[in-house]
Amino acid sequence: MPPADATARILALIAEVLELDPSDIQLESHLFNDLGASSLDIAEMVWRIEDDRAFNVGEIPDDVLDDIRRVQDIVDFIEGRLDERDAPGEEVTYAIAIGSDHAGVGLKAALVAFLSKRGVSVLDVGPQGSASVDYPDYAEQVGRKVATQEVPCGVLICGTGLGMSIAANKVAGVRAALVSEPVSARLARQHNDANILCLGARVIGEVLAVACLEAFLDTEFTPGDDGRHQRRINRLHDIELRGDAP
Ligand code: RB5
Repeated sequence: MPPADATARILALIAEVLELDPSDIQLESHLFNDLGASSLDIAEMVWRIEDDRAFNVGEIPDDVLDDIRRVQDIVDFIEGRLDERDAPGEEVTYAIAIGSDHAGVGLKAALVAFLSKRGVSVLDVGPQGSASVDYPDYAEQVGRKVATQEVPCGVLICGTGLGMSIAANKVAGVRAALVSEPVSARLARQHNDANILCLGARVIGEVLAVACLEAFLDTEFTPGDDGRHQRRINRLHDIELRGDAP
């Protein structure tokens, strides 16, 4: 995103959170003294920035919050992140992409912590806050990353897991499986070569979710001694290739 666009978007975001007219906000405005922001307002701004796919800055560390005083501080931080992102360097590869909606954000944090402890590099596409979001947006992001093989597999969490699985399976190449116990998670890999695990945060607890995730990650696809599972996966590709054709 060009720096001018990023600045305009940040000013609009600040105006929205503080219920001000964007023209009242200057880069040198002090957020607390001039604009009347509270610490909660700043936290809300940070959540919105983290959730804004146009910025794509990922999680903002808490200590950054302490240094934010003026509007310019936020602009400088975002521009710094955008520069880092655009700079040529070693490309980070992730073993898994994870996303949720607002209903799944707590379980997502628990699974990210579990994966990190296990040494699995996780790409968390968000959201980070609990503001209401639409599950198809996150399902599509994770689905496309998996379908293009940017990451080998994904996890999607919403209230029931249903919306996420329906949405992710719209992306060609995705085989998203909604499960609520580890046997199905294992068979989803073994028989269906599922590449996205969907979970319902309002259906299963953290312990069961971790068990499903472990089973999913630890199981390989088995084509079948006569190739029957592979044949069925090939048939799924055929359906995708036929598209809308009668
Ligand atoms: C959100 O309230 C809920 O509808 C969503 O998380 C999911 O369960 C949809 O399938």
